[in-house]
Amino acid sequence: MSMFEKAFHNETLSDKTFLITGGAGFIGSNLVEYLLKYGAGKVRVLDNLLTSKMENMAPFLSHPNFEFMEGDIRDLDACRRACAGMHYVSHQAALGSVPRSLNHPLTTHDINATGFLHMLDSARYEKVRHFVYASSSSVYGDHPVLPKREDETGNLLSPYAVSKKTNELYAGVFISAYGMNITGLRYFNVFGPKQSPDGQYAAVIPLFMNAVLNNEPPFIDGDGNQTRDFTFVENAVQANVRAMLSGPADAKNHVHNIAVGERASVNELYNMIAELAGSTVKPVHRDSRAGDIRDSLADISRAKKAMGYEPGIFLKEGLKLTLDWFRENR
Ligand SMILES: NC(=O)c1ccc[n+]([C@@H]2O[C@H](COP(=O)([O-])OP(=O)(O)OC[C@H]3O[C@@H](n4cnc5c(N)ncnc54)[C@H](O)[C@@H]3O)[C@@H](O)[C@H]2O)c1
Repeated sequence: MSMFEKAFHNETLSDKTFLITGGAGFIGSNLVEYLLKYGAGKVRVLDNLLTSKMENMAPFLSHPNFEFMEGDIRDLDACRRACAGMHYVSHQAALGSVPRSLNHPLTTHDINATGFLHMLDSARYEKVRHFVYASSSSVYGDHPVLPKREDETGNLLSPYAVSKKTNELYAGVFISAYGMNITGLRYFNVFGPKQSPDGQYAAVIPLFMNAVLNNEPPFIDGDGNQTRDFTFVENAVQANVRAMLSGPADAKNHVHNIAVGERASVNELYNMIAELAGSTVKPVHRDSRAGDIRDSLADISRAKKAMGYEPGIFLKEGLKLTLDWFRENR
């Protein structure tokens, strides 16, 4: 499968150094692939491999501009060492999944809130040019209005959402108090190659892909009419690259929705995947999940205006690329 045929930047990357935390994970490893493909001077990954596998790093290990640092963002010294000499940071390391955070609120806080602060303060210490971090659509909580606009949020529904909101609050303060350049990316249900189908907290698209390819019925939580703005990973990579290379941040508007701006229900999603795979397997419905929001759809106009973000790959094409990858790599 070939991704990233079109570069999302005009500047040369060869004189720039990038730290990607969580770079062994799904979104991080796609970002690493892009940066190396387009000639980044140096790409360093900091990851403790908690929810990812070293095999995501295998294609890059022999690249002269790539460095893998195994380390934990809960360790301040590791964060300091990782930031040393880096012009740009994309902070992707976190413990994902709303249900996992409900089962493990303390670990979620340690990694997603304290670990985040370690990274942010290390980037400040090392005078990083732009610190970009992964926030989440979960910060919209129970706010009912669609599409979601960055300034209209509701009550948070999970420790995961609290941890991501905490990131945004600290980032706002580090911009205004220390003059740092920071951009937060509120991802909406990102999917694509290298997303893990393993474990009890796996996301819906890799689970559906595995199910159709194994000819096994997948589970759908609740009635399946819940909707999401499913976002192909290349769009998230584009947002990270554009954000890192963008100009000074604004403390009040530093967070951007990163999505496609279209929504599909989980039932529609499954039908599309089944059709692409030529599968007739019927899904099994089970109880809906605690902490989940019913509907989600992003207004992406702020990211478009602020950094020229423009989704390039939409749901159907993204599903096809992802299914091809699962077929080849499972
Ligand atoms: N995938 C999505 O739909 C989505 C949606 C909203 C937000 N996000 C956020 O995007 C980021 C990337 O998510 P992803 O889907 O690629 O998840 P992922 O689990 O594949 O990647 C996260 C990476 O962080 C690493 N990590 C976890 N704890 C760590 C620690 N203490 N120290 C160092 N590394 C650690 C993991 O080993 C993994 O490689 C996360 O911050 C996540 O919360 C993802």
